[in-house]
This record gives sequence, C-alpha cells and structure tokens, in this order.
Amino acid sequence: PHDLNCLTISELESLAYERMDKQTRDYYNEGADCGSTLSENISAYEKYRIRPRVLRDISQIDATVPVFGHTNSSAFGVAPTAMQRLAHSDGEIATARACRSRGIVMGLSSFSTSTLEDVAQASGANTHVLQLYLFEERDHSLKLINRAKKAGYRAVLLTVDTPMLGRRNLEIRNQFKLPAHLSIANFAEQDEDTDTAAGREHSRTTTATDEKKTPASRRPQMPRQRRPSTAGYHDGHRRIPPGGPITFHTHAANPTLSWDESIPWLKEVCGPEMEVWVKGIATAEDAELAVHHGCDGIIVSNHGGRQLNGALATLDALPEVVAAVKKRVPVHVDGGIRHGTDIFKALALGADFCWVGRPILWGLAYKGQEGVELCLRLLSDEFRLCMGLAGVTKVKDITREYLCRVDRDGF
Ligand code: FNR
Repeated sequence: PHDLNCLTISELESLAYERMDKQTRDYYNEGADCGSTLSENISAYEKYRIRPRVLRDISQIDATVPVFGHTNSSAFGVAPTAMQRLAHSDGEIATARACRSRGIVMGLSSFSTSTLEDVAQASGANTHVLQLYLFEERDHSLKLINRAKKAGYRAVLLTVDTPMLGRRNLEIRNQFKLPAHLSIANFAEQDEDTDTAAGREHSRTTTATDEKKTPASRRPQMPRQRRPSTAGYHDGHRRIPPGGPITFHTHAANPTLSWDESIPWLKEVCGPEMEVWVKGIATAEDAELAVHHGCDGIIVSNHGGRQLNGALATLDALPEVVAAVKKRVPVHVDGGIRHGTDIFKALALGADFCWVGRPILWGLAYKGQEGVELCLRLLSDEFRLCMGLAGVTKVKDITREYLCRVDRDGF
C-alpha cells in the first residue's frame, strides 16, 4: 500500500520540513559554509544517464547485497547521523526497528540519543555497525568499543573527515543546544561524573594512566559549567582542548589523529569480532593508505557536505578511489542519494554499497518508525525498478557500461 501523501524522497523532505522545529531542521539539513558541496553531492548524479538494455527476461530480480557478512535486502544502508531524538521521540530505536523490519544495515552514530545497547536490542539479529569518533581521551573510546563488541556490532566506522569541525553557520547562529530532556546517551554517565566536584574526583582516580603522564598541576581543569555548545568550532588560531562532558561540539573533532597511531590501535582493540572501516575518504592517495594500514573497508564520504565545503562531490571522488583500491577491500559511498537510480549509478561507477543520511532523518521526523520504513521502502522499490528497467537482474552485474556521462559523451 502506498502513502499517497509521500511517493518520493523529495515529498518526504517537504513533509518532514513542516514537522521539525527550526533548530532541528537547520541542524539536519545544512551543509558547511555556503553549502555548495552539499548541493553538488546531489547534482553529481545528474551528470550521468543510464543506458538501459532490453529483452533480457528480468522476471527474477535479486537486489540483495552481502555486507558485513550478512545479506542486506538492498544495495544501501542507513548512514550514522547524530541525535535522532531531535526528529522523533523514539529516535534511534525507531530507526533500528525500521531497519530490522526491512533487512537494512543500520549505522549508529557515537553521538546518538539512545544507548548503543538499546539500539542493539532493537536491532535484534539485523546487522548494526557503530560509527566512531576517536577521542583525544582514548580511554573513553576504548570503553565504547568494548561495549559495542559486547552488544554485537559487526564493525566500527572510524570517521576521518573531522580533524576540525566544519563551519555550519546556521548551527552557530541558532546556538544549537541539545534540549534538556535529551542526552548524548552513550556518554551520559561520564557527563554526570564530570558535572560535579565528586565526579571530578572520581574520574581522576579512575584515569590512572593519565595521572602518570601529566602532573596534576598541569592537567586542564574540568570546566564548572558546560561550555557554549559551539565550543568545537575553531576559534581563530586557538584550539580549545576537550575535557568535561562529552558532546558532539567538544569531542567529535580530533586534530591529533594520524594513520599510524589510529588504525593499528583500532585493529588491535576491535579484534576479530569487529571490522575496522574508515569513513570520509575522498582521494586515491588516502584510499591506498587505508588499504596499506589494514582497514577492512572504505566509505567515500564528505560527511554530507558538512565538513570541507568545496570538496569534490562524493560521486566524483568515487572512481579514483575504486581505481586505487583494485578490489582489495570493499568501497562504499554516501552523500546526495535521493533516488533508487542514484544507487544504481553509484554501483555502476564501482561502489559496492551506498549509505543514506538525511532522507532517514526526514522519515523519522515524518512518522517515526513508520516514516523510516517508508523511506527505506521507497529507495528499495526505486532501486529494484531501476535494475529491471535497465535490464539487470543481479547487483554485481551493474557495471560502467550501463552509464554514460552527459558532459563527456556529447549531449
Ligand atoms: C551526519 N553525519 C555523521 N557522520 C558521522 O560519521 N557521525 C555522525 O555523528 C554524523 N552525524 C550527522 C548528523 C546529521 C544531521 C547529518 C545530516 C549527517 C554524516 C552522515 O553519516 C553521512 O555521511 C551523510 O549524511 C551522507 O549524506 P546525505 O545522505 O545526508 O546527503
């Protein structure tokens, strides 16, 4: 049965728009700076047209794809996006239930408003993976990784495109703040620890390794009050080091991360139970480094245009990454996917799988779990239809021959 009010992702966007408050709408929808990379992520798909083949008996279409050792019902998953309870009171739990009912992998943000354990429970046997920001305070990350392993997450996706936070002007102007009834659930305990003097004592006694490295007098004091929410934005030449409650704006950006120190450590602590992926690769050079350091997979991403504005659209960065990787590890892509035909085009350009960010948030804002299911169904149906009309019955048969480029091929 169709939802006659909502037959496309574009209609879903409009329906969601009316249902979100201004702060949430701006936070979800904006890109960095003037937003040109955000819009080019979308328009890049318009540069390609599909070359359909006919008379091929497409009565049996198999749109499933293996990913993280399981079978996904379509060629896309749900990208990790922070703070989903801003969109709907059921937040990430609704998303997990929708993914489970549709057999679609869910990526959970470290900065979710539901705990990773609750999301794992709502996911049941459906595949779920955890997006990771590797903090300067490595102990916090280690705790999170161990919890994810215990809860059955199949992989960590290390976000590598946030050494600093991109400049999101609406977020700054709105003085974005998580409403008091919501929390960054995975770190709520640490929040309480660092919010009180007693908590400060407690966290000192439990971080014995830090004690050894830094004399107490030189250790940064925990702030008495929460920092303004935009503290993570770079303030001229002065970087504000983290400390205190773990929030997106204080802890997501980590300018100290490097290949040699992050990936081997992650591989070791994740062990055989969880794959280690990097999310936010945009060049052949970095793809080569990711393979060299033993990453299990690569996600070509520019964070939905929220970090470096002026960066290449992800669809345009994809071919060089695919060429550099030479099938040694899987290559996924996200950014700007709004149609089933976009998924087809990304796969034809060499991606093994796609991830979808904002449309899921729109589904959530529209109708909670039902809205996310609607979003997943629209994209799955469109992708399957595209396969059939292009004359392909298996996802692995979607190759470059099915595309032509509007500007280069002369029309
Ligand atoms: C994101 N994204 C993101 N990525 C990540 O690694 N960790 C995170 O916590 C978040 N949070 C987040 C919040 C919001 C509101 C958005 C829109 C995006 C980026 C996300 O995983 C993905 O890369 C993009 O959303 C893909 O682009 P589209 O599909 O939104 O165009």
